[in-house]
Amino acid sequence: MPLYGALSTEFYALDKPEAPPDAFDFYEALAREAGGPVHEPMCGTGRYLLGLLERGVDASGSDASPRMLEACRAAAKLRDLTPELSQQSLEALSCARPPALVFIPSGSFGLLIDDALVKAALRRVHDVLAPGGRFLVEAEKLLPGQAELSGVWGGRWVDRADGSRLVFSWLVQYSGAPDITTSLHRYELLEGGKLVAAEFEELRVRSYRPEDFGNMLESAGFHDIQALKPYERAPADESDDAIVFSARKA
Ligand SMILES: C[S@@+](CC[C@H](N)C(=O)[O-])C[C@H]1O[C@@H](n2cnc3c(N)ncnc32)[C@H](O)[C@@H]1O
Repeated sequence: MPLYGALSTEFYALDKPEAPPDAFDFYEALAREAGGPVHEPMCGTGRYLLGLLERGVDASGSDASPRMLEACRAAAKLRDLTPELSQQSLEALSCARPPALVFIPSGSFGLLIDDALVKAALRRVHDVLAPGGRFLVEAEKLLPGQAELSGVWGGRWVDRADGSRLVFSWLVQYSGAPDITTSLHRYELLEGGKLVAAEFEELRVRSYRPEDFGNMLESAGFHDIQALKPYERAPADESDDAIVFSARKA
């Protein structure tokens, strides 16, 4: 799993303080319909979780990264919230109260690469859900021509409250496997225009053919599997680059 160092975590928190409104509204509506506790694994800095808690949804979160959880707690404190958080890997997830809904938004699930890990994670989510519970998970769709993204640097920066600047640059390189996008991330902290810290991480993201992901959900024990358009209740179609899968436990 990627390390999420100090600069990477801070950049994420500053760059993405809130969830995109269309995605948030979608998950909030389905969380309310779930009729029981909601759990968000891979919750990161909590941009979905904290919004849900603020709106009175009974939600908890977990993440494998202690730094991300620390950032989530810090953001919660600023909003006067005390979220129920635990440090857990998705593939070993356990929940004290069986959730009526587990959701993994924004393509985080793509960070799981190996087949065995993906299968273990889907099975774990199935097992922790309450009977009849629902799983919502976003997956990037495997698109032709991903190799062409290779070799181009991109980037942006955010300014910290103390006037220093955090610069994030990335370089995508074709991994040789069409379903895996590999990118090198570089984070640099500039004070008065001078570099005072730098950090690198390598990120790999897996994309799926929709039918393959549906089959994996079925093998993990799910039924009533639907491939939805982000962030609607309509079926996904050819124009969608990502898909929100909805699946139920019997
Ligand atoms: C890019 S962040 C996104 C967080 C959140 N879903 C959002 O949209 O803001 C991905 C998160 O997944 C977590 N993560 C990666 N692999 C994981 C795993 N195997 N189990 C649990 N968390 C994991 C990372 O620590 C990180 O906080």
